[in-house]
Amino acid sequence: MKKKRVFLTRTLHDFALKELKKQYQIEVHSGKIPIPRKKLESKIQEIDGLICFPYDVIDSRLIDRAKNLRVISTYSVGFDHIDTNYAKKNKIRVGYTPDVLTDATADLAFSLMIDVMRRVSEGDRTIRKGDWREIYGAYDYVGTDLQAKTLGIFGLGRIGSTLARRAKSFDMNIIYHNRKRVSKTKEKSLGVKYVSFDKLISQSDVISIHVPHTNQTDQLFDKKILKKMKKTAFLVNTARGKIINEKDLIDALKKKTIAGAALDVFESEPIRKNHPFTTIPNITLAPHIGSSTKETRAKMAEITVENLHRGIKGLKPMYSVGY
Ligand code: DGY
Repeated sequence: MKKKRVFLTRTLHDFALKELKKQYQIEVHSGKIPIPRKKLESKIQEIDGLICFPYDVIDSRLIDRAKNLRVISTYSVGFDHIDTNYAKKNKIRVGYTPDVLTDATADLAFSLMIDVMRRVSEGDRTIRKGDWREIYGAYDYVGTDLQAKTLGIFGLGRIGSTLARRAKSFDMNIIYHNRKRVSKTKEKSLGVKYVSFDKLISQSDVISIHVPHTNQTDQLFDKKILKKMKKTAFLVNTARGKIINEKDLIDALKKKTIAGAALDVFESEPIRKNHPFTTIPNITLAPHIGSSTKETRAKMAEITVENLHRGIKGLKPMYSVGY
């Protein structure tokens, strides 16, 4: 029997490729990342399974070209790059990789929070530029304590809840806002308090974003919202860049209407050296590394392959979006 065809928009771990090769005829895109649209448009017509990444745009126009495609397996928890409704309409399964990256992403959010509040990266930049001239001044490089500060978690899902546990051990007060309030038992066990979105914005000393990028959250953190934050507050984003209006954030940071920001995700990635963010001192930047530990990435690869296997067989992926 002819082997099913699987296309990967970039390479994965060797063990994952080996596993895929046992069963499928695989092709891995090499060269420009993200894969040029034209190439993806041509490949999608020939394949039964697709393994893609968060920056590959899998929209309805692309899906329309697919003749045999049974499954799209993304190597990410986020799936805002895939038109999942259209895939479902076309009976194409979509698999993703939640759970396994929860700890890694919560750890990164927490480390970004400490970093920007204690000005660690800012200090590192100061030293590298040769600008560390005086030591131990009363006002030199002073940061902000985490203890007794209010952390506002926007989105108390898997990652938000794990972040709450981390923050609790740092003696922070935790408030959260979610589309749906979680159970009282969960609130109690995490030690968190539900508040309205407005209160989350105005009462938090640091806000950490953990919601997906959707029509409702697109550009949500704009001028109007940033203005409602405390002047001493920080904003952390490890979710998706498009949830923040970057122009408005740059303005807020420059005018110091908020104290700082720490970002792992951006409207368009990668950002370049001349991006306005790189000239602002009170911001910590990370190159989209929320899930990037060797342990987590390996688990993500395993699930990506398993999701693909199941989808190609016409079964529901292990972690499936909707269908
Ligand atoms: C994902 O998997 O969607 C995350 O952005 C990884 O950091």
